[in-house]
Amino acid sequence: MTTGAEVDTRQTGRDLSRVVFTRDEIQERVTEMAAEITEAYRAEDQILVLGLLKGSFIFLADLVRQIRHPLQVDFLVASSYGNATTTSGEVNLLYDPEASVENRSVILVEDIIDSGTTMNRLMPMLEDRGPRSLEVCALLHKRVAKLDREPRWVGFDAPLEFLVGYGLDYGEEFRHLPFIGSL
Ligand code: IMP
Ligand code: MG
Repeated sequence: MTTGAEVDTRQTGRDLSRVVFTRDEIQERVTEMAAEITEAYRAEDQILVLGLLKGSFIFLADLVRQIRHPLQVDFLVASSYGNATTTSGEVNLLYDPEASVENRSVILVEDIIDSGTTMNRLMPMLEDRGPRSLEVCALLHKRVAKLDREPRWVGFDAPLEFLVGYGLDYGEEFRHLPFIGSL
């Protein structure tokens, strides 16, 4: 049986310093989070799951398939990082969701919260559109950010390392890895 801890360098293209969360650990936690989210809403809540691209795409796909309510999915593209590992401090919205946020129970799905710049900029913008409720579900949280509002659901506290895999990239590489590793 595979634990997901073995790293296939044919897939990564290079050695990573370590595996931080295995495929199995991630899958188990995502299942728990989906159960918690299911518990928090009712069928009539008109849930809109808004994924922050690109980093959230795999997490969101695994998560929504286990939420037992009717829901819609849309995406936002914001950019605060170029191709580097340091934040620019500026957040641009490159794509705005087509789905209306008004009166919907919005769950903003993030891959990782680092400096918090992205969250702190996006939340008021979404709040202005009159959602019924607005919550954040983040897979990873480095716990260094000064956030105006903490995410309601967090998968794992993350070490202060640059992480890749399961949606997270370094220069657009590594998003496809089924585990999360440190560069
Ligand atoms: P923040 O605005 O500094 O909180 O950063 C949020 C965004 O930066 C995330 O959505 C990621 O795209 C990116 N990011 C932050 N830390 C990491 C990391 O360790 N690995 C990959 N991307 C990261
Ligand atoms: Mg990124």
